[in-house]
Amino acid sequence: MNEILEFLIKRRSVRSFQNKPVPVELVKELIYVANHAPNSMNREPWKFIIITDEEIKERLSKLHKGASHIAKAPMGIAVVAEPDVSPHTWMVDTVNAVMYFVLAAYSVGLGVGWIAAYENAEAKEILKIPKDKVLITLLSIGYPDPDYKPNPKTVKNPDEVIFYNYWEVKNQTSP
Ligand SMILES: Cc1cc2nc3c(=O)[nH]c(=O)nc-3n(C[C@H](O)[C@H](O)[C@H](O)COP(=O)(O)O)c2cc1C
Repeated sequence: MNEILEFLIKRRSVRSFQNKPVPVELVKELIYVANHAPNSMNREPWKFIIITDEEIKERLSKLHKGASHIAKAPMGIAVVAEPDVSPHTWMVDTVNAVMYFVLAAYSVGLGVGWIAAYENAEAKEILKIPKDKVLITLLSIGYPDPDYKPNPKTVKNPDEVIFYNYWEVKNQTSP
């Protein structure tokens, strides 16, 4: 397995961070990388809100149990899609940009924790996101706490998720 494949497999969600600021200039570089994600007609229908305000992070951390890690993260990011910019593909486009951002962050030693916040009305209000824009996700970002050990993870075997040529055909009949 090559280094990039190993890097992709090693990536785990990070939910505990060092008390060390994340330079905004570095995050701008990561967003520049995210802007290279595949997206329909290259319209880049997304915006990133960089959140460093302690009160805002604290309020977002109360959205639900899985959001608590943003309070202690040095930075939060809200990723917002713009359906008016790309009416048919904004969701797929923006999720691609999120994944590019996340992987770029890991490549420079940062860790990222997702927070389920899709169209969360309270989060949209806190962040003053207009109604016609779509909140895709919130992310906690920071330098990982070296003592943080994620639970071991198992994944499905490829054969469990592969069909050949037609839905539910499990055997490969041609080379
Ligand atoms: C759409 C989405 C929503 C998620 N929501 C949360 C969340 O609210 N809180 C959290 O701590 N992790 C959340 N996660 C992270 C998943 O729990 C995590 O990616 C999954 O368990 C696999 O673990 P890994 O990322 O360490 O490989 C979310 C991930 C995705 C893609």
